[in-house]
Amino acid sequence: MTTTQIADRATAVAARASELSKVYGTGETQVVALDRVTVDFRQGEFTAIMGPSGSGKSTLMHCVAGLDTFSGGSVRIGETELSTLKDKQLTQLRRDKIGFIFQAFNLLPTLTALENITLPMDIAGRKPDRRWLDQVIAMIGLADRLGHRPTQLSGGQQQRVAVARALASQPEIIFGDEPTGNLDSRSGAEVLGFLRNSVRELGQTVVMVTHDPVAASYADRVIFLADGQIVDEMLHPSADGVLDRMKAFDAKGRTS
Ligand SMILES: Nc1ncnc2c1ncn2[C@@H]1O[C@H](COP(=O)(O)OP(=O)(O)OP(=O)(O)O)[C@@H](O)[C@H]1O
Ligand SMILES: [Mg+2]
Repeated sequence: MTTTQIADRATAVAARASELSKVYGTGETQVVALDRVTVDFRQGEFTAIMGPSGSGKSTLMHCVAGLDTFSGGSVRIGETELSTLKDKQLTQLRRDKIGFIFQAFNLLPTLTALENITLPMDIAGRKPDRRWLDQVIAMIGLADRLGHRPTQLSGGQQQRVAVARALASQPEIIFGDEPTGNLDSRSGAEVLGFLRNSVRELGQTVVMVTHDPVAASYADRVIFLADGQIVDEMLHPSADGVLDRMKAFDAKGRTS
């Protein structure tokens, strides 16, 4: 084993962006959405990504998750460099290694909660690990709602189904883009609690974009983006601490 491999094992990186750049458009209309971003998402860690609107949060998440192409640098999920993959392999990696939770719950209306949860695995032709699935369903507290369709569930319950769907296949990493953005604070707190539990108790890796300091306080660390660059990082964040940091950025923005 090389020194690099030993170091890699010690840090156990679920996903890594190195010098990642993303440029939209050309010439006058060119936008540098990501400007040489380097970041590790370690296994079993819950990371929140924060920053002003347009700072590149969604772009970073989409590029690392293999949902979007990038202009420079590299991304790896586990040991796999995304740039080495053909389209079909990338689709397969997304399906097998990555879970997604979006702001809009993205459940299929004609399927029951349980069918929605197992859909990605059904598509992949994989059998869910029944014990794991039961554990996930017990954790999100929807055992008595599994036969319900999304329209028969509240927003919070629908998002819990989406969380279970993301967890069900035991992906390498779960990405959420404002997963609590459409929820009231109580439902949001529940979903955030489940995400945190999935990290603490199940060893899941989670990366979540959020505007909400309270949501960010559920994470192990917060990275702050501004103009496509990582400008700060905070470990063991508290909601007040994150809020203060955001205010400090705003003040700096006004004086510079
Ligand atoms: N498809 C696109 N074409 C051109 N520019 C884009 C495209 N998508 C994003 N951008 C630009 O890239 C920059 C980063 O956008 P991104 O969506 O990553 O921001 P964000 O931090 O997620 O913002 P928000 O908090 O509003 O969701 C912005 O300036 C945006 O206008
Ligand atoms: Mg966004």
